[in-house]
Amino acid sequence: MTSKARITVAKGDGIGPEIMDATLSIMNAAGAQLDYDFIEIGEKVYLDGNTAGITPESWDTLRRNKIFFKAPITTPQGGGYKSLNVTIRKSLGLYANVRPCKSYAPYVESKHPEMDVVIIRENEEDLYAGIEHRQTTDVFQCLKLITIPGTQKIVRYAFEYARNFNRKKVTCMVKDNIMKVTDGLFANVFREIAAEYPDIEANLKIIDIGAALLADRPEDFDVVVTLNLYGDIVSDIAAQITGSVGLGGSSNMGKDFGMFEAVHGSAPDIAGKDMANPSGLISAGVMMLEHLGQLDVAEKIANAWAKTLEDGIHTGDIYREGNSKQKVGTKAFAEAIIERLGQQPEKLPVLKLDQESFKPIVIPEYERPAVKKDLKGVDVFIDDLNRSADELGELLQELSKGALKLKMITNRGVKVYPDGLPETFCTDHWRCRFVNRDNSKDVNQMLDVSKTDVLELLSALAAADVDVIKTENLYYFDGKISFSLGQGE
Ligand code: NAI
Repeated sequence: MTSKARITVAKGDGIGPEIMDATLSIMNAAGAQLDYDFIEIGEKVYLDGNTAGITPESWDTLRRNKIFFKAPITTPQGGGYKSLNVTIRKSLGLYANVRPCKSYAPYVESKHPEMDVVIIRENEEDLYAGIEHRQTTDVFQCLKLITIPGTQKIVRYAFEYARNFNRKKVTCMVKDNIMKVTDGLFANVFREIAAEYPDIEANLKIIDIGAALLADRPEDFDVVVTLNLYGDIVSDIAAQITGSVGLGGSSNMGKDFGMFEAVHGSAPDIAGKDMANPSGLISAGVMMLEHLGQLDVAEKIANAWAKTLEDGIHTGDIYREGNSKQKVGTKAFAEAIIERLGQQPEKLPVLKLDQESFKPIVIPEYERPAVKKDLKGVDVFIDDLNRSADELGELLQELSKGALKLKMITNRGVKVYPDGLPETFCTDHWRCRFVNRDNSKDVNQMLDVSKTDVLELLSALAAADVDVIKTENLYYFDGKISFSLGQGE
């Protein structure tokens, strides 16, 4: 007999309570060995004045139980409310978002009957750091942070997942032709780690064509691993083209914690009407039971669910005249599954789980390499509404008489000084690159500068009332250039 697991459950907002009650009734009837601690999160907690959407007591419960089964929540409109999903993922270190996207044609209409893809999305980094600033009248910035340990974790997770589940191919999607430093890191780590898994085919695709191919020929993909924002988008595309976003479940996995939820939101338009499809949450519940080692219960639920679909008993979102036999509400759908517990689908694949697939994925501790870091210059970002590129360039040449000299100015990444084109549209946001005065032209052979040189430059700019909004130091790491060049530099 499997030992009982104590898990945290949140019924959420909108359709959340209906689909959670339906799912728990199925899990209980199937013999899941679970004890529940219920917590309140989401809209009510936000509106009670807690901008995080969760109370300290709920955090204690989550941290104690380590497994969280969560219905969707509503984030109230308007400023000041932080996304609870992002907070939970980051606070508990849930770095891997795993979304299996499989079609159930012909019982659920899909243009892609062969589709069976798992999207593994990095869950903690990228533009979701939420570090944003308005810098000038014209320009707003969001910081994209990609780390070596974060990338190593997610890429290794994808390969280990593929190996556990006997999947043959991992495709990495990046935009490293444009973001050579950040997406370039992700691609390089992917290449390095892929070499350790010769039994698995590894592919790199640029995200734009990758997403297009995924939407057009999902049957060509197996496991996809990608950065947070791209993963957010492609996992929704993939879930949608299986036939309904209402079918997908997902897990958010960390070293010690797991959070399991449906892909869709709280669907306020159909809340309280007994219309919602609980399948997404049921599927997340099956993933949770698999994770907890309750494989017999997971199989029982998944097979009874597939049999219910096959028998044409469908909720409104997937009901199609001719294809479906009976349109049911949330409760009746759950009851139909409970009636079929112990049965197997006849046409859809029968789920037969193998304990081997659920070997824990252990990611080696990150070993920070010893690196040599050399300062080679500084990018000074300046807010200037009034000067042209040439006027600003001449002023900065005049003000930089020390060890650093102005090399170039870019506006939105395009070189506008020296020798800019008059056609280039310029905002009030100028990136001014200063480097050692004695440099040759070769960007791979730049001479060092000192922190004092940078401070002297900034003092001179401040004294002349130049509006410096921020600086970024230019480094070589281990002798290699580690910043992007300006377009035209
Ligand atoms: P949504 O996924 O809630 O709804 C989109 C459409 O799909 C609606 O027409 C809805 O009726 C339908 N739908 C969704 N789930 C369904 C189901 N199980 N059965 C039948 N139909 C279903 O997305 P929307 O409208 O953009 O967001 C609503 C709220 O949900 C927002 O407050 C949003 O912030 C929140 N949300 C929460 C998530 C979470 O807690 N994980 C994820 C996504 C959105």
